[in-house]
Amino acid sequence: MTQRLAGLLRWYADVGVDLAVDAVPHDRFAETPANSEVTSYARQPAPPLPSAAAAGPRVMREAPPALTAGAIEAAALDSAAAAQNLDDLRDSLSRFEGCGLKATATRLVFGDGNPDAEIMIVGEAPGADEDRQGVPFVGRAGQLLDKMLASIDLDRSKVYIANVVPWRPPGNRTPTPLETAACLPFTRRQIELVDPKILVCLGAAAAQTLLGTKEGIMRMRGRWLSYAGGGKDIRAAALLHPAYLLRQPAQKRLAWQDLRMLAKEIKRLQLFVND
Ligand code: URA
Repeated sequence: MTQRLAGLLRWYADVGVDLAVDAVPHDRFAETPANSEVTSYARQPAPPLPSAAAAGPRVMREAPPALTAGAIEAAALDSAAAAQNLDDLRDSLSRFEGCGLKATATRLVFGDGNPDAEIMIVGEAPGADEDRQGVPFVGRAGQLLDKMLASIDLDRSKVYIANVVPWRPPGNRTPTPLETAACLPFTRRQIELVDPKILVCLGAAAAQTLLGTKEGIMRMRGRWLSYAGGGKDIRAAALLHPAYLLRQPAQKRLAWQDLRMLAKEIKRLQLFVND
């Protein structure tokens, strides 16, 4: 019996379920409003959100149930817009209580690399290693990302890396639309503050969220797209996520084509000519 229980726990850990969040299961996807109020950027009056300090030590907290998705998003927009630089934005995000993922994550995973970079890379959400270290893309997928970058002469001193959602979803599940929408104003402001010339979206979730499309990654990859933010259009590309490439190594062939496309554009824009 003990051996079977140990086997079950090992299996949970292997598939990424390494955290007991609550005694009863919650269907977070069912909490997303059916009319997707979340995706509308209409301004609504924002009731004050409780601050992290007022909430006391880190316990299992939920976004206050009285707040609608629209109110949470409006608070996020206000808070993100007020940030004048990346340090401000990190502070605002660490005080933000509108995303339930904060309750289960160990720490905020804000960004890594060069904040003045002309290339910004955005992934989906931190995994277990990132959650432990507070740095995006440091696990196996991150190591592959580093190799992908190196193949076209890039490294973390030449790019800035972040995620659409800065807290790890329990068990590495996909962030819900509600969680993504709550964090999106911060990610958009982060992109605006870094102000890259090229935005690379890693994987379908990041590409769909940032480029406002439901197209699949296989249709988006391999061509230049456009990201609208901060009053300008930025050249954007959707690349296959390194975690997907670890599972489907045969697709590295496509990733290589996309990296060549990126390298060609870097050359055309003369991004590192003085380095
Ligand atoms: N996958 C992501 O999308 N982001 C990370 O930071 C790590 C893995």
